[in-house]
Amino acid sequence: MTNVLVVKANNRPDGVSTKMYETFVAEAAKVEGINLSTFDVFEENLPYFGQELFNAFGKAQTGEALSDIQNASLAALNKSREVLSAADVVVFAFPLWNLTIPAALQSFIDYTYGAGYSFKYDENGNLVSLMTDKKYIVLAARGGVYSTPETAPMEMAVNYINNAIGGVFGMQKVDEVIIEGHNANPAEAENIIAAGLENVKAAAQKLVTVTA
Ligand SMILES: Cc1cc2nc3c(=O)[nH]c(=O)nc-3n(C[C@H](O)[C@H](O)[C@H](O)COP(=O)(O)O)c2cc1C
Repeated sequence: MTNVLVVKANNRPDGVSTKMYETFVAEAAKVEGINLSTFDVFEENLPYFGQELFNAFGKAQTGEALSDIQNASLAALNKSREVLSAADVVVFAFPLWNLTIPAALQSFIDYTYGAGYSFKYDENGNLVSLMTDKKYIVLAARGGVYSTPETAPMEMAVNYINNAIGGVFGMQKVDEVIIEGHNANPAEAENIIAAGLENVKAAAQKLVTVTA
């Protein structure tokens, strides 16, 4: 069995990236030989990554009692890493909000982005990715157009996920479906979204080859 983890990063019921998530899961459920699970970053308790977690590490060493927020931070780190470690293929379904990813997805990345876990430095100071045996798929929606040479550098959602998950963690990208421009071009919105969701279906069907 191939473990496919879908990271759902939108809690807008009508979000286009929510539809991408739903379409992918419905189609992937038909693929044999995969074990499909969802990690919904808006449903999980993922406190902001920061000093409370670092204090929890310190207290765990000394055996001192942890506060509620420190316990929750440690649990968030452990659960995020547990689900990621178990996955062979990771699917990220997310929107472009305010030029970047939703904060809840950022929290999941923060909890899994760590020297000694997703990457390390070698004796020469070079970054070595530690998740090269995993694959990932990008499913992203953005209302404007960010695929032109002028606008692409402003986009910090798909670019960020590719830099972090592909560049640092070292996972191999097997598919990238982007639905874009439906807000900028309302007359074409329906067609843009429908065509994009067909591409999402195709990406799910391709899991057969990814897992083979
Ligand atoms: C809070 C919020 C912020 C957004 N920010 C941007 C943005 O910076 N650039 C853009 O092109 N579209 C922006 N949009 C439009 C979304 O990219 C668009 O709705 C797209 O379908 C992805 O979001 P969705 O999956 O929630 O629908 C924003 C939408 C919301 C709800």
